[in-house]
Amino acid sequence: MDGNGRWAQSRGQPRAVGHQAGGDAVRRTVEAALDLGVGTLTLYAFSADNWKRPRAETHALMALFGTYLRKETSHCVESGVRLKVVGRRDRLDPSLVTAIENAERATAAGHALRLRLAIDYSARDSLLQAACESRGNLSDRAAFARAVEVAVHDDAGTPDVDLFIRTGGEQRLSDLFGWDCAYAEVIFTHTMWPDFGASELRQAIAEFYRRDRRFGALPELQGDRGSAVKRNQFPQNRAATFHQTTGGSAFDQTTREPSPDT
Ligand code: FPP
Repeated sequence: MDGNGRWAQSRGQPRAVGHQAGGDAVRRTVEAALDLGVGTLTLYAFSADNWKRPRAETHALMALFGTYLRKETSHCVESGVRLKVVGRRDRLDPSLVTAIENAERATAAGHALRLRLAIDYSARDSLLQAACESRGNLSDRAAFARAVEVAVHDDAGTPDVDLFIRTGGEQRLSDLFGWDCAYAEVIFTHTMWPDFGASELRQAIAEFYRRDRRFGALPELQGDRGSAVKRNQFPQNRAATFHQTTGGSAFDQTTREPSPDT
């Protein structure tokens, strides 16, 4: 979700105003993801390195996350959104951890959209922690994947990222989702996060459907899977995973392909 600060500064406003506007963009994007049938939407709200920012800014952001969780939980329940906060929790204020736990508990039955908010998240740290937890048993990929999920308080079986969108004109990954982004399609957009919404999400998904995904194979050697993959038509039971990062987003597939005129 990059670009909050610049969006505000270009309007002569303090960065905090950009983060507030970023909160509105979060609501719009979640609504759009629901409309488009996105299975998983991950918003990269705060990286482990964002603690390097001035205390006033990190404090304001943490307060914004708490407010969002408290205000949006009932709406999430009504619209079938299952909320999950991924990342470390030991450095968060206890009141925010309580808000997270309450929101996760209240929305646990949601099945329309899995909304993951990455807060105090670092892909590298999650891999290191998973490696430590697995105590040398690194031969089983599924077990290691589960260890990564446990390290960041994630649900079991979260699908890989299919589409990673980074806003704000930056073209880097910033320590996001190393393990599950192995075959993510990446889109960089100059749109500042506060200007992001349904139309930008539709455009990104339309671009995703135009991509030729081969997963390292050759299209002609992939048989049935290859032709489905080539057209980016995913099995009905696979939820489209769209994850939005501090500068981007990512999604897993159940999305309906947007019509060409949108
Ligand atoms: C990066 O843009 C953005 C962040 C570090 C914070 C993201 C937070 C929000 C969008 C607030 C609302 C979020 C939720 C989940 C309610 P930046 O500040 O680095 O902007 P810049 O690249 O222009 O400096």
